[in-house]
Amino acid sequence: MGPIGVFDSGYGGLSVLKEFAALLPNYDYLYLGDNARAPYGTRSFDCVYEFTLQAVKHLFAEGCPLVIIACNTASAKALRSIQQRDLPGLDPTRRVLGVIRPTAEAVGQLSHNGKIGIFGTPGTVASGSYDIEIKKLYPDFEVYSQGCPLWVPIVENMEIGTPGAKYFVKKYTDALFGKCADIDTVILGCTHYPLLYDDIREAVPETAQVVSQGAIVANSLADYLRRHPEMEQRLSKGGSITYTTTEHPDKFSDLAEIFMSRPVTATRVEL
Ligand code: DGL
Repeated sequence: MGPIGVFDSGYGGLSVLKEFAALLPNYDYLYLGDNARAPYGTRSFDCVYEFTLQAVKHLFAEGCPLVIIACNTASAKALRSIQQRDLPGLDPTRRVLGVIRPTAEAVGQLSHNGKIGIFGTPGTVASGSYDIEIKKLYPDFEVYSQGCPLWVPIVENMEIGTPGAKYFVKKYTDALFGKCADIDTVILGCTHYPLLYDDIREAVPETAQVVSQGAIVANSLADYLRRHPEMEQRLSKGGSITYTTTEHPDKFSDLAEIFMSRPVTATRVEL
């Protein structure tokens, strides 16, 4: 038995972990942020794959039977290779899941006109993962994506709500709605972006809803555990959250507390 591993390049996965802890509080969670090497959003496919595989191996070594890649960039660039190529050799009884598929599944219930906007890192947008996953499920939907290279640095540097943040939120929002003015559902396809929610909500036209994926991914995990009792039974249930980072733990804890809205004590690990 072991905790659910939750991985992100940095702080962003905490916006997903917070929803896991709210919906499924009985499980133990082990969070890993690769803050020392974040952001991943502008890195190559090979690099993101290599870093993500190291993280998965580390979380397996720490005893996690199930790992959630709570990072869109890593889900887009590394998840499939890890599931198909690496997992059979590492341990075929463990599972690695991502955040893009459950989010793509949810848009069918959210949108009325089938016009979807995606904000993501340049890496997620370049991968085309959202277009592919949404169109597999809803072939008639139109998907418009906008890379937002400066939003992760704005969050990581705690510039949320500042005039600079508002400027770059408006810039990328205008660019997205310049591609299609009728988008009715905007997905925050990067786990860092919920921290910019207020600024984004202000910039996006009132006719469109702005959707954070944390709650969607948490509901999908609950559903997965209901459908997979053999995995559910392997998860330890002490209600604890352990935070680990590849950066200095004090630096991590300061911003992590803002994400989690609760005190955070982290330890440093090497991958
Ligand atoms: N939080 C990550 C995501 O969901 C991106 C952050 C980064 O660029 O490292 O895509």
